Amino acid sequence: MEFDNLRLETDGPILLVTLDREPALNALNMATMRSLRLLFSQWLPDRDDIRGVILTGAGPKAFAAGADIKEFQGLTPQEGRDLAAAGHETFFLIEQSPIPVIAAVNGFALGGGCELAMACHLRVAGEHAKFGQPEVNLGLIPGYGGTQRLIQYIGKGKAMELLLTADMIPASEALRLGLVNHVVASGEEVAKAREILEKILSKGPVAVRKVIEAVNAYFTESTDGFHFEVESFGYTTGTRDFREGAQAFIEKRKPNFTGH
Ligand code: CAA
Repeated sequence: MEFDNLRLETDGPILLVTLDREPALNALNMATMRSLRLLFSQWLPDRDDIRGVILTGAGPKAFAAGADIKEFQGLTPQEGRDLAAAGHETFFLIEQSPIPVIAAVNGFALGGGCELAMACHLRVAGEHAKFGQPEVNLGLIPGYGGTQRLIQYIGKGKAMELLLTADMIPASEALRLGLVNHVVASGEEVAKAREILEKILSKGPVAVRKVIEAVNAYFTESTDGFHFEVESFGYTTGTRDFREGAQAFIEKRKPNFTGH
């Protein structure tokens, strides 16, 4: 499979995906968005050996500086709707990925770039990273979920302010607001993301998948998250991994999870 503008590197069970358009600050053009969709919808589901993903941007300056503004010129309203709908589908694929996805934000995460980071399960930012939804500067609104997910992370008041003013916030402020999980020295983002991912990968894989689903259920209007938790708890009690986890606890040893 060909992935325009993505660089893929595997290291054991971890896939490092680098947005690879450094001269354009890794702006998410249509080809990149297609590649992300292909990766999460077709390639990853066939790769049982990969159990976690890190997403980062090429170069020291940007994770992704947004959707590619140059491709937006001349879009009709219908083309704009189609573009946003396709972007939503792609970012839902990431958010609903059964394996954990961590954004290692190595610089600007603006517009679609911030939206992509927010679709990931966790975010690690370099100390010089900057976050923002600057679409109103262009006479646009965010189109890849920004008006919805920003509220989920930082609350309505602050989200409204960032969306209306287009202000950029530094990594330290993003940490204070809860938009990112960790801030590390520049250049250490991927290493920290890997450390977190390795910790998650030592846990029961079915339980990890069910936690992702249950947390997402809270934000899915048609789903009762509490009911989903009850069902999922029941499901995990029936797994071999739970029997192994409980047995390992009793025997004071590390569990040997198999993902079943
Ligand atoms: N789309 C296309 N190209 C972009 C881009 C973008 N979002 N962001 C940066 N680039 C390009 C620039 O055009 C420039 O290319 P050239 O060398 O060919 O001129 C190159 O990347 C370097 O950018 P700058 O010279 O502007 O770098 P800078 O350091 O002076 O500024 C920046 C950095 C503040 C991030 C600035 O580039 C910027 O403001 N970028 C746009 C950010 C933005 O508005 N993002 C939202 C896009 S709309 C969106 O994302 C909608 C959505 O939700 C779907």
